[in-house]
Amino acid sequence: MKRLFTHCRLVSVDTLVNEKGGYKVQEDVSIAVENGVIKHIGSNLSQEGYDVISLEGKLVTPGFIDCHTHIVFAGNRAGEFEQRLNGVPYSQIAKQGGGILSTVTATRNASVDELVSLALPRAKALMADGITTIEIKSGYGLTLEDEIKILRAAKKLADALPLTVSTTLLAAHALPSEYKNRSDDYIEMVCDTLIPEVASKRLADAVDVFCEGIAFSPAQCGRVFEAALSCGLKIKAHAEQLSNLGGSALAARMGALSVDHIEYLDSAGVEALAEHGTVATLLPGAFYFLQETQKPPVELLRKHNVPMALSTDFNPGTSPFASLSLMMNMASTLFGLTPKENLYGVTRHAAQALGLTTKGRIAPGFDADLAVWDLSCPAELSYQIGLSPLAARYIKGELANEY
Ligand code: NIG
Ligand code: FE
Repeated sequence: MKRLFTHCRLVSVDTLVNEKGGYKVQEDVSIAVENGVIKHIGSNLSQEGYDVISLEGKLVTPGFIDCHTHIVFAGNRAGEFEQRLNGVPYSQIAKQGGGILSTVTATRNASVDELVSLALPRAKALMADGITTIEIKSGYGLTLEDEIKILRAAKKLADALPLTVSTTLLAAHALPSEYKNRSDDYIEMVCDTLIPEVASKRLADAVDVFCEGIAFSPAQCGRVFEAALSCGLKIKAHAEQLSNLGGSALAARMGALSVDHIEYLDSAGVEALAEHGTVATLLPGAFYFLQETQKPPVELLRKHNVPMALSTDFNPGTSPFASLSLMMNMASTLFGLTPKENLYGVTRHAAQALGLTTKGRIAPGFDADLAVWDLSCPAELSYQIGLSPLAARYIKGELANEY
């Protein structure tokens, strides 16, 4: 398949994100694609032998990548939302067996097919907002069978939709009640049984942990990382969300692709990310929904040139928001990110957070994953919400509007 996209207003994410002078928007550009991969970009490309598609002067960005989601789950936490509004903090709800564990109960009771049909509208909403790639975590099963069930549901979603899915095992998300007061035993089961089994079935690309006082200690997370690495899986972490335990620095030293949330990250942590090339993933939806006040150290991250990714963290407890453009707006209004930083955060840096070396940019050698927008300037991507400006999505050069 040889396809030529003409008349693109191409928004490049190829300059340094903090370079002054705004965006690189190239007018009237053509993108030549062969077998789903971008071969050439230029203004006077020959059309011979190509199937030509005019993008009519619309704005073209890399397809968006939502690099941190928990979209496969059953049940609903609206009641807990109401509890929090009546003054009960998230950490107390978690300690009382609510929070993550209430979603675990509902998810254990659901079949793979039920989980797929519950996740479908969440994925479709994100796709309507411009995503072409999504990461999906397990973490609401917490047994071998149930974690595998969630990962299988994520794989089925990938078969059902025009969407690239990256899967992550998050068995160290919460301590299941059958392991109460035996968290080391649970971690042992995760390391010795769950991770090798999931790796041998090729159900996950990476392993994630929740490193926090209400979840697992840095020492326990370190054991999980070792097990994951020895099975050839990549690692990442939910860290420094509610307190500073040093989980981010530990993850970075062990080669983590990303550390996510990081509101409480200190300067030593930021330096560790810079030294080891770990992406800082900001999740403004959870910050907003939990009404947190401690903001991630954006200035320090900029100073040390740590790439910032941006994601929905879609989940029933802390971020029930199926819109990456809403996150872009929140990242600006709550954390002070520029619209340009947001765009990098949902494309190039999000790809880096998943270790996807052929996604997130429009450049020769990259997959032709494109989002085409009825917008006049890139800042509008972070500016207005709910107007559905997406005109088309292409995945590996193929139109992916029907789903
Ligand atoms: O990313 N921080 C831990 N995990 C999720 C919350 C999951 C839940 O509350 O169900 C998060 O915010
Ligand atoms: Fe999360």
